[in-house]
Amino acid sequence: MAEKAWGGRFQGETDPRVEAFTESISFDARLAPYDVRGSWAHATMLAKVGLITDDERDAICSELGRIGEEFDRGEVEFSAALEDVHMHVESRLVERLGDVGRKLHTGRSRNDQVSTDLRLFTREAIDTIDGLLADAQRAFVGRCDRDVDVVLPAYTHLQRAMPVMAGHAWLAWVEKFQRDRDRLADCRKRVNVSPLGTAALAGSSLPLDRELTAELLGFESVAANSLDVSSDRDYLAEFVFDLSLIATHLSSWAEEWIIWFSNEFGFVTLPDSYTTGSSIMPQKRNPDVLELIRGKSARVIAAVPQLLVLLKGLPLAYNRDLQEDKLAMFDAYDTVAACLELVPDIVAGAELQTDRIASRLDDGFLDATALMEYLIRKGVPMRSGHGIVGRLVADCESRNCRLADLSLEELKAASDVIQEDVYDVLGTRNAVAVLQTYGSGGKEPVAEQTKRWRERLSAEIENGERPV
Ligand code: ARG
Repeated sequence: MAEKAWGGRFQGETDPRVEAFTESISFDARLAPYDVRGSWAHATMLAKVGLITDDERDAICSELGRIGEEFDRGEVEFSAALEDVHMHVESRLVERLGDVGRKLHTGRSRNDQVSTDLRLFTREAIDTIDGLLADAQRAFVGRCDRDVDVVLPAYTHLQRAMPVMAGHAWLAWVEKFQRDRDRLADCRKRVNVSPLGTAALAGSSLPLDRELTAELLGFESVAANSLDVSSDRDYLAEFVFDLSLIATHLSSWAEEWIIWFSNEFGFVTLPDSYTTGSSIMPQKRNPDVLELIRGKSARVIAAVPQLLVLLKGLPLAYNRDLQEDKLAMFDAYDTVAACLELVPDIVAGAELQTDRIASRLDDGFLDATALMEYLIRKGVPMRSGHGIVGRLVADCESRNCRLADLSLEELKAASDVIQEDVYDVLGTRNAVAVLQTYGSGGKEPVAEQTKRWRERLSAEIENGERPV
């Protein structure tokens, strides 16, 4: 019992099954570097306000450094009796420094300690995911230059709709990833608040300097209500939601490329290193990596309700249920990071099957909307134009031809405003060339957006806004 931090009021031993049931060291050991940093800041502050001497601080801090290295090297033996990472760090300190080590926890509780560790971890995790998203964006922008002349059929309801430049499809993902990055940046503000010094739930009678620990740990502000802080995991719920939206975006990109990789579409080939074979069907090349990016989104999305359900029944303040928060967040974070790490190579390594795409580009009346807008420009009311083109499409379908195959006489019979210049908008390449609005899929607007993104993403590197 002497070993337990809370052993004082207990006479009986803890049942070993209870120790095994309540431990968290098996999954929170990865917080060790953050626990050491938080403890270093706390000890520095304790010395500053005179609760420990400078010599005691120095002894504690250098021993903390050693303990951190032992965790890094995997030398720390985990013990369920010591419950969690916080006790593993502190017990080592006490073992080596005796009474000096026993002073570290002055004015601190594991409740503000675990929140400090988690916030430091999450802040770094946000920066890592942000960097990986930027890499994914760069890979897509890189494709825009490579595929600068490629026209793709774009779909709604998975039915051929209108043509766009390939870069337009690439930049669609870049936009989604940017919103993901913006969301993370916003979440980071709420993560970057110091809980340290709120102690268990009500604060402390000791003269703790909360501003100092916040500053030492790079937190932007100090949490203002100890009861709130002790129970607050909003920042984790938000982070995990942000991750789940990233996973959703990745999953829907993977789905699109799985479809494109099928024999039926044949729009894209994937690098050999990113596909796998079948154990029985020799001809198979399967997009397993993309399928798993799609599949793994399930567990990331599931982490959101997992955290919300964990939180919804908790009265103020800390409850042990909160220990489970890490399982949901770590798994969601690791999964999204692992998926994102693969994205740039897949994006850069894929090849568009441009001949095959081009050979079928005039199927599916991708120029029908362009023809309707031609009629509008000639003064035909939109609804009437829609009807005229619809009848022409039906006519072409029955004769198995394209709108561009119709003669001027046939077209004039449908509407007398039609003139020779109609052939400037018919045909898929013409139909994409006339797209001109801001944000549309035409050549000029896409070139503009590509330039904007290239400049924006390389400026980030130059300004050192993120590690390359
Ligand atoms: N392992 C615990 C957790 O992750 C640390 C906080 C424990 N606090 C307590 N009062 N038992 O939530």
